[in-house]
Amino acid sequence: MKVRKAVLPVAGLGTRFLPATKSIPKEMLPVVDRPIIDYAVSEAWDAGIEQIILVTGRGKGALEDYFDHAVELETTLSAKGNLSSLQSLLDRLPKDGTISYVRQQQPLGLGHAVWCARHLVGNEPFAVLLPDDLIAPPMAGAYTGIPTLRQMVQQFELLNAPVIAAMEVAPSDVSKYGIIDPIGGVPESQNGPDDLVAIRGLVEKPAPEQAPSSLAIIGRYILPPELFTLLEQGKRGAGGEIQLTDALVQLLAQQPVYGYRFHGTRFDCGTKVGFQMANLELALRHEALRVQLLPFFRAQLSKWEQLA
Ligand code: G1P
Repeated sequence: MKVRKAVLPVAGLGTRFLPATKSIPKEMLPVVDRPIIDYAVSEAWDAGIEQIILVTGRGKGALEDYFDHAVELETTLSAKGNLSSLQSLLDRLPKDGTISYVRQQQPLGLGHAVWCARHLVGNEPFAVLLPDDLIAPPMAGAYTGIPTLRQMVQQFELLNAPVIAAMEVAPSDVSKYGIIDPIGGVPESQNGPDDLVAIRGLVEKPAPEQAPSSLAIIGRYILPPELFTLLEQGKRGAGGEIQLTDALVQLLAQQPVYGYRFHGTRFDCGTKVGFQMANLELALRHEALRVQLLPFFRAQLSKWEQLA
């Protein structure tokens, strides 16, 4: 069955970015020239998704405005004859009725946020994208320019089974992630069939000594609708929250689930350092910016290396 719908949880408070996020949602912070949310939404359209469901919360109105006409701005640009800016704004607008919004009324966790979208998803497989995880596609090799969700949709169509994005992290970082217990361990190379890992178990944010591996869940999933029934139970897990990872553990008792070691560079835009790295990398990918930034970086590097 085709993956037509994607759920993007965007209700988080963004406390790590206060005071910037006091009056704007963290998903509206710009990475170069587009807000964080735009990268995940564009990735979903690129993967063939037809309907996007944003799970929002209080104070997230700017997200709805971003995906709508800005009539005053459009009129002004048109009156000033700035037609290229006007056209690029209009080109970025989603087709009418292709983005829906549902509110998560209480901060009960990622599993709860996804569950809030159950009526809009209905009885079909769906994608979940966590916009904090910004994944830049590879710039060389067989996967050049192919965004992660598109890679995963291809895997889903071959396997007809749930697929979760996975990435090796430093053993000291496992407690920040859902961690995969892979059947047969983690293959050494990442190539062709080795990209897929059959999953025996999953643990949300384990202590390093309890982690079954250092293969972490990254914020892209393709999931079956049965997951909503499991989330319905509302069981609390790590941090007292309703965890998506725990529902996936229950799903594993019913059907095989695969980890997919995606090709791309992932930035955790939920942290200051990851957000800065995403800005640096994506700015360098713009040719016009690169020619100005590289000399600056070189000068800064030698200055800071001397100071360090
Ligand atoms: C969530 C998931 C976790 C996953 C992570 C990826 O955690 O619960 O399993 O590894 O996203 O970014 P969060 O970062 O929301 O705490």
